[in-house]
Amino acid sequence: MDQILDTYNGMQFTVGSAILEFSYLLAAILFVVGLKKLSHPETARKGNFWAATGMLLAMVTTLLLHEGRDGSRIQIQNFIVIIITLMVGGTAGIIISKKVRMTAMPELVSFFNATGGAASALVGLIEFANPANESLLVTLLGLVIGSIAFSGSMIAFGKLNGSIGNIHGGFMKYVNFILLAGLIALSVYLLLQPEPNKYIVTIYILFGLALVYGVLFVMPIGGADMPVVISLLNSLTGIAAAMAGFIYHNLAMILGGIFVGAAGSILTLLMCKAMNRSLWNVILGGFGGGGGVTGETGGTVKEITMSDAAVLLAYSQKVVIIPGYGLAVAQAQHTTHELEKLLEGKGVQVKFGIHPVAGRMPGHMNVLLAEADVPYDKLVEMDEINKEIGATDVVIVVGANDVVNPAANETPGSPIYGMPIINASHAKNVIVMKRGMGKGYAGIENPLFFKDNTRMLFGNAKDTIQKLVNEINTL
Ligand code: TAP
Repeated sequence: MDQILDTYNGMQFTVGSAILEFSYLLAAILFVVGLKKLSHPETARKGNFWAATGMLLAMVTTLLLHEGRDGSRIQIQNFIVIIITLMVGGTAGIIISKKVRMTAMPELVSFFNATGGAASALVGLIEFANPANESLLVTLLGLVIGSIAFSGSMIAFGKLNGSIGNIHGGFMKYVNFILLAGLIALSVYLLLQPEPNKYIVTIYILFGLALVYGVLFVMPIGGADMPVVISLLNSLTGIAAAMAGFIYHNLAMILGGIFVGAAGSILTLLMCKAMNRSLWNVILGGFGGGGGVTGETGGTVKEITMSDAAVLLAYSQKVVIIPGYGLAVAQAQHTTHELEKLLEGKGVQVKFGIHPVAGRMPGHMNVLLAEADVPYDKLVEMDEINKEIGATDVVIVVGANDVVNPAANETPGSPIYGMPIINASHAKNVIVMKRGMGKGYAGIENPLFFKDNTRMLFGNAKDTIQKLVNEINTL
């Protein structure tokens, strides 16, 4: 392994370093393949597997072949501690991931994200004081960004599991602005010193300030806006990890961090676009999380009986099911699939209309319906299903609200005006399943429920669909 292949600028390139660099290249390819496969529900499991394999490869080769900054072989001293830590962390990861409920997935992601931010922050903290470290700007950025990602993600985790409430008040944005300005000023001051790594106390103050900023940045954001913020914090963790990779000249860390950073940023922007909100609006708190924005709609709602609904559906030619957050809460995915199969058995064409931000996390509906074995080709994206709704006999809205709210098209001034929606109201008949007249995430009234072609089937989505299945079976 130590056989020298080449020498350049006084640095020696050995067989070991060639294998190491090649393994990083392979790991990067596996990350890319993994990411690509993760973008479709059918291949997502394999994507996860390939990306994890890349990470495992990079970890093993780093442990066995790691080199110092000058290219010299480094004997890792605390091998046993590293192995034990890996085993404890790995086992905890497996147990937690297997136990977590689907609806608690965003908080798990947030917790894992916090650990990534903490790791990068600690690398920054240790390496800033290291006199051999020449990349002080990068180290400082990794420390600050990693700390914000850590404390911000822990607050997001706490908010999602209900243990932390919101701080409201417009003053928060001024406090945050002053803190951010302070963080930048202190960082610049440190970097301008002749020997910055001797300013240990200042580094710790910076670390503390960044942690406080992470907390205060996330505190005012509404609970239901958390998925967007988590995705943003996730991209920050990726950037911090890439910075840590620069410090150690570790290609796998740099590339892995950049991929996470880029994927997180793209996802954040896609979510904002699908909600027709700017990132600033989410960060500064627009709607959601119990915000009291309402717009009253007059009129009365009409109900449909179970037997009428059963007849209407059984004698339809084309039915579209639009799932939403309520389907996830009720865990109605299996009964919904049962209803779909039953109708298909009667010659009805059934499709699912999937809105990109239905539910509370990206891909929420796809994951739930996949769990119930609904074939992927039945899941039709918003733009495609909208083309078919006009020719649909019945649209069944299962626990969805905002994503089918026509106010997004018809009511300028509505908080969701301009948000792309599934045009459920364009169908010949609409059956809405929800427990009562509760509002959705945006906290506003939904004119769809008052339209002439809409009828309500009140109750918990799972029970309602089960009763409907029983009723259709008796026809
Ligand atoms: P929502 O607008 O939140 O509406 C869900 C509806 O489900 C509620 O009106 C509720 O009415 C009903 N419901 C709750 N529990 C139920 C149960 N057990 N059985 C039957 N119905 C039940 O959901 P949506 O249409 O899926 O829209 C998602 C919203 O979340 C959007 O505004 C989106 O912008 C936001 N959001 C999404 C994401 C992602 S990435 N998906 C991220 C952040 C924010 P009742 O109380 O009357 O039953």
